[in-house]
Order: sequence, then C-alpha cells, then structure tokens
Amino acid sequence: MAPAVHNPFLPFCAPDVGEEEIAEVVDALRSGWLTTGLRTKRFEEDFARYMGSEVEALAVNSATAGLHLALEAAGVGPADEVITTPYTFTATAEVIRYLGAHPVFVDVREDTLNIDSDFTEAAITARTKAIMPVHFAGLACEMAPIIRTAKRRCLKVIEDAAHALPTTSGGRLIGTLDSDATVFSFYATKTLATGEGGMIVTRDPALARRCRVMRLHGIDRDAFDRYMSETPAWFYSVVAPGFKYNMTDVAAAIGIQQLRKLNRFHHRREELARRYDEALADLCLRLPAHPPQGEVHAWHLYVVRLNDDSPASRDDFIARMTRAGIGTSVHFIPLHLHPYWRDTYRLSPSDFPNASRAYERVVSLPLYTRMTDADQERVIRATRAILSPPRRNAIGAPASLAEA
Ligand SMILES: Cc1ncc(COP(=O)(O)O)c(C=O)c1O
Repeated sequence: MAPAVHNPFLPFCAPDVGEEEIAEVVDALRSGWLTTGLRTKRFEEDFARYMGSEVEALAVNSATAGLHLALEAAGVGPADEVITTPYTFTATAEVIRYLGAHPVFVDVREDTLNIDSDFTEAAITARTKAIMPVHFAGLACEMAPIIRTAKRRCLKVIEDAAHALPTTSGGRLIGTLDSDATVFSFYATKTLATGEGGMIVTRDPALARRCRVMRLHGIDRDAFDRYMSETPAWFYSVVAPGFKYNMTDVAAAIGIQQLRKLNRFHHRREELARRYDEALADLCLRLPAHPPQGEVHAWHLYVVRLNDDSPASRDDFIARMTRAGIGTSVHFIPLHLHPYWRDTYRLSPSDFPNASRAYERVVSLPLYTRMTDADQERVIRATRAILSPPRRNAIGAPASLAEA
C-alpha cells in the first residue's frame, strides 16, 4: 500500500520576499543608516512615480499611523464627526477616536461591501468634518459621488486604501483621485509588504507639510536632514506635539524592491482570482464583486459568501478547510459587533443590515503570489468537496462524500 501523502498546511497568506529584498536590506544594514534616510526618500519618490501623477508620497510605519496623520492634518478634532463604514478593520475608526472625534458608521452596499454613497450623504450633519471610504478587498468605492458630495458640503475625504494597491476608479489609480489624502498599508499580508509600513499620498502641499512634521514628534527636521545638512545636527525646533510614525530605511529597503515587482504580483493575483471565479461559479456561494469593465481590482482578498442553502455553514466550512490543511479567514467581523464600538455608540446589527448579513456568510480564500497552481487546485478541490450537493447513488441515497 502506498504511504499516505500529507500535504503541508497551506497558510491563508504569506509574503512574497525574494533575494532582491534580502540584498537591499543587507545593503541598508551595511550602510550604517537604519532609521529614516535616503532609502525611505527613494521609496517615497518611487511610489509617487508609480502613482504617475503630481502627488507627494510620505512613508510612515503603518497605515494606521498614516490615517491618523492625514485626519489630523485635515483638521479633524474633538467632537467632529467622520463618516465611515463598519465593514472594515478597527484601525479605520480608532484613528478618529485618537483625535477625540466620533465615527459615524453607515452601512455598505449589498453587492460590493463598500460604503454606500447614498447613506453617506444622508449621514452628514453640521459636525461632519470628513468621509473615510474603505476600498474593501481591493475594489474601489464609488468615488465620484463621494467626492462630489464632499466638495459641495466642504468636507475632507481621506481614503483608506489599505487594500487598494493597485486599484482604479474612473480609470485613475486610487491615490490620484481628487480626495484630500489616500493611505496605503504595507502590513505583512498586503499586496506590497514591508512587514509594517504605510504610505500617505496627497496632492495638497499643506497637508503633506503637516504630516511630514507630525510623523516625527512635530520636529521641523527629520533625522537624516539633521545629520546630513549644514545646519548643526543638534539644532531642531519642536513646532507641535507630534507622533513617532516615521518609516525606517530597513523597511523602505523591502518596499523599494516590492514596488518593482508590484505589476507582476498584481498580474498573478488577477490570474488566481480568475481561476477561482471559473472553478467555483457553480457552487452554493456568491463570488466576489468585480469592478466595472476596464477598472482594476487589487485582489488583496478573495471573499466569497456562502448561500443560505449551502451544505455547510460558514463556521463549519472554515473548520473543514482547516482540517483539510488550508487556512482561510473572515473579513471582517464588522465593527458594530465588537464590544467597544457596539457599546460606545450603541450600535446594533439591525442598523447595518447589509454588513451584518454579509458577515455571517463571508469567507476569504487564500490568494497570494507565492501560491502555486497546485496550491490553488487544493483549495478549489477542498471547497468543492465541502460545498457540492451530495451525489446520489442509483437508489437515490446520498453517496458518501470524502471529507475535504
Ligand atoms: C481596511 C484597513 N484599514 C487599515 C488597516 C491598518 O493597516 P496597518 O496594519 O498598516 O496599520 C488595515 C489593516 O489590515 C485594514 O485592513
């Protein structure tokens, strides 16, 4: 009898770091300059060039930091309101609280799970200061109506683009629209990963200036400038009570090389998403929403929703996938279900019917560039084994189904 073959566990996600990133990090370490310096500057310049538009890019140590800085620079302060969605990670809303302001949550669209622009307009009050759309999974929100509303009502728009590199809206890359700032995440699982990291992108020179100062203690000079310029290194002025949000050159070294691979990475993500679409279309589930013709989806996440008549519940599906050696995840447990947000703002599932209903059914399948075709085939086979209706034998009884 042939020995049983045990497949190693297929993780839900894994970063794609190659020899190029390793060599660049080694160079950074050998250079003797570890904190914010020339490599961070180069990463910012390369990123702005990738955006292909007249934008400034400011590297920070996380998207959370970037969102906090962007809101602060946009003038959000105590008792202001910022409209966003509960269908996101807690970072989106927590940065609003950092500033003493309040998130006002509006439901997502049933089809895309992105913020609904009609609900957004209806939620505006005299205290509203900004709107924070979140491009869920890498699919752009309907940005044109949001930006139109914001301009008409004198509100700021700060895009949470943690999932959206590269994503387009109206044929333009997210990061180059007419919002006030856009923030990307380079967390280990993202489409460009530096371990921890983020980038603020803006066309507004005043907002960029404020973020630059506030990301380093409110000091008017960064560390590299202090040690390289003619003005004595010991001299600096604190002009505001800032934060410690600067990116290190070690992280920037990874980012520089990841950015060079971004289009290749994205091509592979599109290929994997297309293959899932084809292989899973006939099952009791709903495939992820696609962008309009000609637009780009970053495919950071591949999120399916199990139908009501699915042979397995969402939790059961995840448990069986785990037993089959395959990692999956849930994006997101909406914020109104977390104790802090629920209790502080007295939120209930009935306030957000689309987000609440989606949460019960969503599963994120593994989609990352290091997955091989064989890895994906395993995921597809396991998914089909769990979700295909039981086959009937000649006398109409269910044929036994192999455990996925
Ligand atoms: C939608 C969204 N916004 C913000 C963040 C925060 O990103 P970071 O970990 O870079 O701070 C995340 C992280 O996963 C996210 O999913």
